[in-house]
Amino acid sequence: MEHQKDYGTPASHSDQQVTLNIDGTDVTVPAGTSIMHAAMVAGVSVPKLCATDSLDPFGSCRLCLVEIEGRRGYPASCTTPVDNGLKVRTQSPKLADIRRGVMELYISDHPLDCLTCAANGDCELQDMAGAVGLREVRYGYEGENHLRAEKDTSNPYFTFDPSKCIVCSRCVRACEETQGTFALTIQGRGFESKVASGVNNFLESECVSCGACVQACPTATLMEKSVIQHGQPEHSVTTTCAYCGVGCSFNAEMKGEELIRMVPNKDGGANHGHSCVKGRFAWGYATHKDRITKPMIRKSITDPWTEVSWDEAISYAASEIQRIQGKYGKESVGAITSSRCTNEEVYVVQKLVRAVFGSNNVDTCARVCHSPTGYGLKQTLGESAGTQTFDSVMKSDVIMVIGANPTDGHPVFGSQMKRRLREGAKLIVADPRAIDLVSSPHVKADYHLKLRPGTNVALISAMAHVVVTEGLVDEEFVKARCEWDSFVMWRDFVAKPENSPEALESELGIKAADLRAAARLFATGGNAAIYYGLGVTEHSQGSTMVMGIANLAMATGNIGREGVGVNPLRGQNNVQGSCDMGSMPHEFTGYRHVSDDATRALFESAWGRPLSADPGLRIPNMLDQAIEGSFKALYCNGEDIAQSDPDTQHVTHALESMECVIVQDLFLNETAMYAHVFLPGASFLEKTGTFTNAERRISPVRRVMTPKNGYEDWEITAKLSTALGYPMHYKHASDILDEIAALTPTFAGVSFKKLDELGSVQWPCTDEFPNGTPTMHIDEFVRGKGKFFITQYVPTTEKVNAKYPLILTTGRILSQYNVGAQTRRTDNVAWHPEDMVEIHPHDAEDRGISEGDWVGIASRAGETVLRAKITERVQPGVIYTTFHHPESGANVITTDNSDWATNCPEFKVTAVQVTRVSQLSDWQRSYRQFSEEQIAFAQNTAKEARIE
Ligand code: SF4
Ligand code: SF4
Ligand code: SF4
Ligand code: FES
Repeated sequence: MEHQKDYGTPASHSDQQVTLNIDGTDVTVPAGTSIMHAAMVAGVSVPKLCATDSLDPFGSCRLCLVEIEGRRGYPASCTTPVDNGLKVRTQSPKLADIRRGVMELYISDHPLDCLTCAANGDCELQDMAGAVGLREVRYGYEGENHLRAEKDTSNPYFTFDPSKCIVCSRCVRACEETQGTFALTIQGRGFESKVASGVNNFLESECVSCGACVQACPTATLMEKSVIQHGQPEHSVTTTCAYCGVGCSFNAEMKGEELIRMVPNKDGGANHGHSCVKGRFAWGYATHKDRITKPMIRKSITDPWTEVSWDEAISYAASEIQRIQGKYGKESVGAITSSRCTNEEVYVVQKLVRAVFGSNNVDTCARVCHSPTGYGLKQTLGESAGTQTFDSVMKSDVIMVIGANPTDGHPVFGSQMKRRLREGAKLIVADPRAIDLVSSPHVKADYHLKLRPGTNVALISAMAHVVVTEGLVDEEFVKARCEWDSFVMWRDFVAKPENSPEALESELGIKAADLRAAARLFATGGNAAIYYGLGVTEHSQGSTMVMGIANLAMATGNIGREGVGVNPLRGQNNVQGSCDMGSMPHEFTGYRHVSDDATRALFESAWGRPLSADPGLRIPNMLDQAIEGSFKALYCNGEDIAQSDPDTQHVTHALESMECVIVQDLFLNETAMYAHVFLPGASFLEKTGTFTNAERRISPVRRVMTPKNGYEDWEITAKLSTALGYPMHYKHASDILDEIAALTPTFAGVSFKKLDELGSVQWPCTDEFPNGTPTMHIDEFVRGKGKFFITQYVPTTEKVNAKYPLILTTGRILSQYNVGAQTRRTDNVAWHPEDMVEIHPHDAEDRGISEGDWVGIASRAGETVLRAKITERVQPGVIYTTFHHPESGANVITTDNSDWATNCPEFKVTAVQVTRVSQLSDWQRSYRQFSEEQIAFAQNTAKEARIE
């Protein structure tokens, strides 16, 4: 199997070109390129061991020496830059001698078990021995050596076998330069030098299992356990990670239909060859034994499941939808799409709802995460999307992170951001909790604005107050690019004394002087970029805050070029795409309102059905109307609302109230407990389509194995549509993408062919911008002039009082993903077997709580029990938990408060009391019983449907 070409050292991006001659061939490369890299460009491969093109050159192995006419000695080609007119020889008898000598030393301390080594055929040491013509090793094994060094197998995914280490330091440098974790060091000197992870083993170390060191290791020292177990892969398929909104590109390396390993793609536009533990290693869920692969139906949710054929399941689902619409009207049915599904899948679901169900009752899980982003950015800038590429951060001078935790939530981008911070960019973190970025090796926030949860809008207004009242507005930009009247109104509003940092100091819990200094830095520190996450959107004023962020960026002229911008860090892999694809109840694809006659006419003509001009129901409306009795059937496609949506009791009550719930998913998830039809879905490894990441990058998802359930998800939706009398005639996901492109101006130039050519493309992709649009709003905003909006701070109604004196806020951890349905079914549980609640030592002491105690958390909505983790990461008065395990019931305690504009739930602020308890809550005990019963049903009735 061919690997991606390794140029030995990174490419130089200099504009200046240099021409030299290598082994008789002239080659022209950018200034700053190494001779080794230039040689590869000229088609000449120089032997190397310590160099690889993802890392800065190091010059330790001395294998890459060359001769340069007119220069003395034998310089290392990896550390010597090109120069005009150089004449380089990479091969000569003398060079061959030196290289053989170097290799002889390496091999004399290396176990010669190549035939049984897992890296056999994929080992650079082996390759180099061949390349330099090594035929004998004069030094025996009698002397001191490392051959009996003990193996470290503690990491669930890779082993470390020091007996094979050549101490090239590539792993150490990968951990520092690429990942930014600094978990590894070279200990000792000379013969004693060895790679060490600082503590006993990898698992207990700071290592976050990103795999960069494994990728960089030229020998079998760091090696994937899957390769050790199954042998070397035989072919590879390039596809896109299905976890977070970074959208990393991977080469799925296969043996037949078996996935052996996922190797990050060096040409990936979002990840440039890097990965995190989830995409790199946590793909085993796709073949987990819990997966359901045969359809199942049941009349009532108290009945056991019956396994049926696809035809029977689809025709039962269709007949139920028809029965219910016949009895209760067409508005009684709706669907929810998922941001884990491809663009094509989401598109066909919303088409089914609009063209076949005859309503606009379709919503998406973005409702509960980034709907305020869509709304806020559309209002201010004219487009519901982030403005930059990830690479843009490398040109930022000031980075402000608000309510996001990139190193856990968006790890590959987090690593890139850390790289820029190590280069000297300034950092402002606005977060109630000390996220890793606040202080990690070689990265320290210049300002950590530890605001009280729920006060975001006060924070952004106070920052704007400083900008406006201290003369820091970029008036030239505002005059040229924005609606001046809206600016004046906003300026006068934020300038009011009540918006000053001093007036808001106690509300925010931030010293006014710190806030002023941070605002000055943002406005005057050069290119300033804002990155934000769910800590901004999941509030009752989520949309207001998004508009406040856009206001600040416009007022300081930080928009419309590289290094600046407003960057929502999207949670799930396809949040951007699911919104782009028209899965909100008021919009067609490309964010065009359903009431727009011209747009509706376009879709009516393409789809051949009349379409409703009235916005449909949002998820909370569907649930409320289910309880009231008018909403009766739901097609829930790849989404687990019983776990991911707020106020679980309300959600489950609504589901229980419906007459037909159709769940399409990989696993019998929490929502499936209330379902009447279960349609088994396909994993991302089994489907073809596209995902769109947080930087609007459309990337291909390619099928690497046959769907275990028999069909890709769009095919299942198409079958349902056909059964409902509206055949969908797609033969391949590319037909769906072509239809999307034909009906959506921003996607006009997108096709599978284009993605094959370019690898990925950022929308808008049009005739004018056939290769996509990395940076938006360069000359003018999508809406023409940028518009400022007044952002009046309205404190949340969720208030602390004597009964509920603490505020609970929620977030994610690196190793788990969202509701954990996938990652909990992988070895990632080694790092996060359960959700815990973080509590400040003062609050813990007040309540007699010790580390690891069970604590009851009660809110106005419900109560749950978690184990305590005592830490100063959270401030007094605030507690924090993740929500990756259903049994934790984080959403049992969150309230039904939501964003005024979009209904995005206020997940980030819940007033609670915490007490020490001795057992799980009533809810958790009944949950356990219920879930055990449900699993028993499934096991009894659909045993053979599972993957054994
Ligand atoms: S573990 Fe691999 S990459 Fe690290 S020093 Fe040893 S041989 Fe080099
Ligand atoms: S897996 Fe990643 S974090 Fe762990 S040691 Fe290797 S490079 Fe560092
Ligand atoms: S989870 Fe996100 S950062 Fe990690 S590999 Fe997948 S896309 Fe990349
Ligand atoms: S590859 Fe140049 S010194 Fe090792």
